[in-house]
Amino acid sequence: MRLNIGAVVCFCVFGIAVGEDPYRFFNWNVTYGDIYPLGVRQQGILINGQFPGPDIHSVTNDNLIINVFNSLDQPFLLSWNGVQQRRNSYEDGVFGTTCPIPPGGNFTYILQVKDQIGSFYYFPSLGFHKAAGGFGGIRILSRPRIPVPFDDPAGDYTVLIGDWYKSNHTDLQAQLDSGRKLPFADGILINGRGPNGASFNVEQGKTYRLRISNVGLENSLNFRIQNHKMKLVEVEGTHTLQTTYSSLDVHVGQSYSVLVTADQPAHDYYIVVSTRFTSTVLTTTGILRYSNSAGQVSGPIPGGPTIQVDWSLNQARSIRTNLTASGPRPNPQGSYHYGMINTTRTILLSSSAGQVNGKQRYAINSVSYVAPDTPLKLADYFKIPGVFRVGSISDRPTGGGIYLDTSVMQTDYRTFVEIVFQNDEDIIQSYHLDGYSFFVVGMDGGQWTTASRNQYNLRDAVSRCTTQVYPKSWTAIYVALDNVGMWNLRSEFWARQYLGQQFYMRVYTTSTSLRDEYPVPKNALLCGKASGRHTRPL
Ligand SMILES: *[C@@H]1O[C@H](CO)[C@@H](O)[C@H](O)[C@H]1NC(C)=O
Ligand SMILES: *[C@@H]1O[C@H](CO)[C@@H](O)[C@H](O)[C@H]1NC(C)=O
Ligand SMILES: *[C@@H]1O[C@H](CO)[C@@H](O)[C@H](O)[C@H]1NC(C)=O
Ligand SMILES: *[C@@H]1O[C@H](CO)[C@@H](O)[C@H](O)[C@H]1NC(C)=O
Ligand SMILES: *[C@@H]1O[C@H](CO)[C@@H](O)[C@H](O)[C@H]1NC(C)=O
Repeated sequence: MRLNIGAVVCFCVFGIAVGEDPYRFFNWNVTYGDIYPLGVRQQGILINGQFPGPDIHSVTNDNLIINVFNSLDQPFLLSWNGVQQRRNSYEDGVFGTTCPIPPGGNFTYILQVKDQIGSFYYFPSLGFHKAAGGFGGIRILSRPRIPVPFDDPAGDYTVLIGDWYKSNHTDLQAQLDSGRKLPFADGILINGRGPNGASFNVEQGKTYRLRISNVGLENSLNFRIQNHKMKLVEVEGTHTLQTTYSSLDVHVGQSYSVLVTADQPAHDYYIVVSTRFTSTVLTTTGILRYSNSAGQVSGPIPGGPTIQVDWSLNQARSIRTNLTASGPRPNPQGSYHYGMINTTRTILLSSSAGQVNGKQRYAINSVSYVAPDTPLKLADYFKIPGVFRVGSISDRPTGGGIYLDTSVMQTDYRTFVEIVFQNDEDIIQSYHLDGYSFFVVGMDGGQWTTASRNQYNLRDAVSRCTTQVYPKSWTAIYVALDNVGMWNLRSEFWARQYLGQQFYMRVYTTSTSLRDEYPVPKNALLCGKASGRHTRPL
């Protein structure tokens, strides 16, 4: 559905005049329903009866009006992984910015997709809902006259991969609440289906785009297709150098687009997804089905890398921006010379795991995040004291033991900062920053030092929103803080973010201009200490 209402209708009820850009309307009903992805009955979270939820198809500049009805017995929120809410962190759908939709209630998200062409996904952000579904693909297409650097594919498929548990989300959450760690997953799903459940139809000789997102809870996954190569074309809104791979590591929270040509004898072929860096390797398969297929899948399931870190690191370094490909506006992606800009601040973030009061917690720079009763962004807007303190997380690892706090880091609007993720643990990490894309300028084993900067890629690093950090390694990013608001920086390991491995970055300006930040939406739900406030001065 695409309605071009233009300037005739003002979305005054939402307080934002979003101009002449097209609107797309979605009415979503979130319910529980039975699903059987691994053969046992489970209570899944469905959107309009679907698991996974429906895809969102959009074009840059579209306004998405998504009215979400919560028919669960628990508060609920959706967040938009990688889709930047410019000047509008209120719509981000995490508890630091947005009040939960109460059971039986509804909330209309007003999003404008801007300046991003590519593949993203949405997911339920509260509790452990993500373990029950409620996620789906988001694709943002370019406007008609802005070319993408490859021919239109014959088909375009969303491929949501992720680890999965037979336990329901309330059981998993209860285990974490009681102080335990998350157990190992039971299996892997492709588009909500177990072994050989998902299939993708192709015609011989034609080329297809697969938009692969890892929507799982913790495991890095390797993706490959029997006898077929994949040409990488896009990563989280950046068109990449078109490099060909026989398999691709997709870390939790990440999205990739590949082109696959059906250039093999007409047959069915295995699509294989397996866990990386785990002692027990979980594997699942889907099917690439030629329309004139002469036979079912056969032969051994193709193997992939398992524990090799160097293989993955080398692949990560090979993923780079195609500087001459166009961006969302008619200028090439390489026209922003990030390598020429001096950073003004270095933030060094180190993750840790440990116990607090006899319970498992996870931390960044020793602080394990605890959510206050009031979204930070609303406390900021209504100037409600006592909800958070800026400076409650340090710019450097403190080396001390883990403690609980509502960690908020203040940064200045329009500065250009370097963030280094130091991972001294022997697990792989994945970090995501809401509201932004950042340049992944470097990653390597060992301890980051200022000398590590000598090996940064200051020319064609990929710009994305989720980056992995290898075991006992570091990853460095550059980010232009051009989006005012309260933005969640988190581990994408869902148990880790749930147990504190996250904080909020308050990108701050003294300006109160609408050019810099929108006011709280008129329909904003109010909760905690913000209850009963007026969303607009009367
Ligand atoms: C959502 O679905 C449930 C179950 O089918 C139904 O009872 C309810 O009326 C629906 N709500 C809306 C707003 O459509
Ligand atoms: C989760 O499973 C437990 C039993 O293990 C059951 O008591 C509970 O009702 C289930 N909850 C949901 C939301 O499915
Ligand atoms: C809830 O849905 C109704 C339409 O059914 C809409 O008018 C209202 O604005 C929605 N509430 C919020 C908070 O967005
Ligand atoms: C980069 O994009 C340009 C412009 O679309 C295209 O012609 C070129 O083949 C691409 N280069 C690579 C290496 O992907
Ligand atoms: C960056 O810093 C260097 C060294 O301090 C200085 O020479 C250079 O002019 C600065 N570049 C910009 C663009 O500010």
